[in-house]
Amino acid sequence: MQSSLLANGQYSNVAGREFTYLTAEYEMKWNVLEPSQGATSFGAGDAIVGFALSQGMRVKGHTFIWHGATPSWVNALSPADLRIAVDRHIRNAASHFRGRVHAWDVVNEAVADDGQGLRDTVFRQKLGDSYIADAFRSARAADPQALLFYNDYGGEGMNAKSNRIYDLLRDLLAAGVPVDGVGLQMHISAINRPSDASIAANMRRLADLGLTVHISEMDVRINNVPGSQQMRLDVQRAAYHDVVRVCVVEPRCEAVTFWGFTDAHTWISGDSPLLFDAAYQQKPAYHGVLDALRGR
Ligand code: XIL
Repeated sequence: MQSSLLANGQYSNVAGREFTYLTAEYEMKWNVLEPSQGATSFGAGDAIVGFALSQGMRVKGHTFIWHGATPSWVNALSPADLRIAVDRHIRNAASHFRGRVHAWDVVNEAVADDGQGLRDTVFRQKLGDSYIADAFRSARAADPQALLFYNDYGGEGMNAKSNRIYDLLRDLLAAGVPVDGVGLQMHISAINRPSDASIAANMRRLADLGLTVHISEMDVRINNVPGSQQMRLDVQRAAYHDVVRVCVVEPRCEAVTFWGFTDAHTWISGDSPLLFDAAYQQKPAYHGVLDALRGR
């Protein structure tokens, strides 16, 4: 969700009515919380967390360490100063939201898209691969109650990237690093997506590590589906149904989060990837999700 839309009654009414678990789309990222070094700004994050709690929703904090939302001042730091800044950021943010946040995405998108290793970010370049373990340890120290997640995209089904994510998490757990769960973002296209069996197998092996699994940012693009708009919406319904059903069937898959809910406000431009249309009406996709949640 987006805090800037909370004043929109339609937006906040539908969100409050339909959902029980909220992730902020950008309000809790480092570039928003600390745009210049030492000057923290928690207002937008507090607004969206306050909304969630007022509606009886849980909150997943998103996200301490992501190359895509790092304030620019971070890039100029020496390795020694970067290490201090990362630890301080995680401790500050985790402490600020402690008691209000059920879980945190501690590290987001750290694995390279080809699955050959870790993504080449400022964190890896200056701190080495151990920055991931250190981030989880800082988070656990600052908020011992929150569940700590690793979150990524493109590793939903069985492939080179999900193999690397699996190895990373296995190694972290073997080293005693406090990781509780893994988020599969699930930004997918209706006609070019991992098979249900492949997602199920990947979830199962992650669960076998002892991890909780979430579908954490689901949306389903339909622009390139051939046929009429009605056909596109039906294919989208099937994709939502089938993927959510994989989670429902997997005992350790405990939440499905969508990256927005109305096509009026989505980070995917020129498509209609969400459960409600731009006029806040339930789409076929909505009923597909509902059927899956009801075990149908
Ligand atoms: C996106 C937000 O939706 C946008 O509002 C923001 O400008 C950029 O980030 N993977 C993630 C999310 O983990 O944080 C991203 O969210 C989408 C891709």
